[in-house]
Amino acid sequence: MKTFISFAAAFTFVASILSFSPSHCSGEVSDFDSIKLYTLKNDSGMTAKVTNYGAIITSLMVPDRNGEHADVVLGYDRLEDYINAVDKPYFGAIVGRYGNRIAKGEFSIDGETYSLAVNNGENHLHGGVIGFDKVVWDVDLFDDHQIVLSYHAKDMEEGYPGNLAVSVTYTLTDDNRIVIDYHATTDKRTPVNLTQHSYFNLKGEGNGTILDHRLTINADRFTPVDAGLIPTGELRSVASTPFDFTTAKPIGRDIHIENEQLTFGGGFDHNWVLNRSESDGELVLAAHVSEPETGRTLTVLTTEPGIQFYCGNFLDGRLRGKSGQAYLHRGGFCLETQHFPDSPNHPEFPSTLLAPGETYQTQTVFAFSTDNVSR
Ligand code: BGC
Repeated sequence: MKTFISFAAAFTFVASILSFSPSHCSGEVSDFDSIKLYTLKNDSGMTAKVTNYGAIITSLMVPDRNGEHADVVLGYDRLEDYINAVDKPYFGAIVGRYGNRIAKGEFSIDGETYSLAVNNGENHLHGGVIGFDKVVWDVDLFDDHQIVLSYHAKDMEEGYPGNLAVSVTYTLTDDNRIVIDYHATTDKRTPVNLTQHSYFNLKGEGNGTILDHRLTINADRFTPVDAGLIPTGELRSVASTPFDFTTAKPIGRDIHIENEQLTFGGGFDHNWVLNRSESDGELVLAAHVSEPETGRTLTVLTTEPGIQFYCGNFLDGRLRGKSGQAYLHRGGFCLETQHFPDSPNHPEFPSTLLAPGETYQTQTVFAFSTDNVSR
């Protein structure tokens, strides 16, 4: 049974607050004292660590085919590293109010134009300067298997209209699934596009590149972009292009093919249009990844229409993670389930507009397993 508990009671469940001390932060966060690290665990021995700073998943200990656990997400073990990180890679965070890009940081609703921070070339990225990844969330519920985090974004915070009440629930099931439930309501019409920005390396974080991981994406089309990674509006077939992941192939196999879209992204950094036979809002298979050496697999299911597959093109070895290892170029990949980038400026895309009285409700599942094929 789920119980609502106070912060003080929650601390008794917290495994590793000490290694997460916020003593040397130069960032913008003012209420350090309320930032904690929470550990979820299941009956199969998997653990997930979550902090209420940015609703970040800081660690996922997942077994390989021999039952050996490794941490499969990139990140840090000190809060100050999340706050002070060079180039802020959004490791493990919930990004919003609008995950991904909005062209030139501008959109209009009912004839009114809104201006957002331009924090990525000439465009807006991941909710702005202080997006949901850089704020302190409340913890509404915490037990061994589940944590419910909430955040109230103010009207015009980061330039977006409407007071937005957001909650994100992480549930760790006994069959090694992380189920993520997103929920939001507003008092003014506003775009909302929330996603989870974990960087995975199924060999274990810091363990080389992800180019050998085999990826399938359940999508016949993707949204090509311009040089600033803003969709052109076209839904292009992946057939006969490096973007065809309809059957499993190593991420690195086609990444060096001469292709304008790969040049724009510096590799894969694009949104795929998920195939759905079920009606909108049903949970469908989005992607499957397998790592040949360890046998670990990750299956992503979602109610969302799109998925941004980003293969860590901007990692360059400068950041060192929790094990002290440098995070190499393409040392992790993200599978960000979401609506399409720049939807507020593309009326032909599925709408991201949330109106008062409506409820934003989406679900994404990261399901871990092993392939049991020996080397
Ligand atoms: C974007 C990348 C970006 C990364 C980190 C991804 O969601 O697609 O272009 O570099 O986030 O900000």
